[in-house]
Amino acid sequence: MSLARWHDLPYLGDGRGGLVAVEGLSDVPFEIRRVYYIFDTERGVSRGFHAHKELKQLMVCVSGRCEISLDDGKVKENVTLDSPKRGIIVESMMWREMHNFSENCVLLVMASDPYDESDYIRDYREFLEATNV
Ligand code: TYD
Repeated sequence: MSLARWHDLPYLGDGRGGLVAVEGLSDVPFEIRRVYYIFDTERGVSRGFHAHKELKQLMVCVSGRCEISLDDGKVKENVTLDSPKRGIIVESMMWREMHNFSENCVLLVMASDPYDESDYIRDYREFLEATNV
């Protein structure tokens, strides 16, 4: 089974151009309690390198492209995000890394909870211990 849960977004574009609207609980399977976006990433920089104990996220590359590496402690998978119309849902207890950001990349993340550092697992060995019990 694929780790990447692809999620098509409601596209409301017309002759004037594109529009996507996302509502929590109906268009994504969680309440959206935080939104953040990553942009102007310096060339060669990778980000992430953590998992979340509880947090769920929807990641959408609304401009440009980047690669997301997912790892549930047993299986690893790389996906490329390059569409504002389709994203991936990243469940809790999923190690994620973001690589190869294009110059114009804007990675939008909709999250199920406010920022909480205690929800992060930033140590890969700790993550493996928690997932391979
Ligand atoms: P971090 O989650 O480590 O970034 P990434 O996974 O993209 O590499 O966040 C970087 C810093 O920003 C860290 O000090 C935590 C802070 N931060 C917040 O305060 N609120 C947020 O919503 C996010 C995502 C990060």
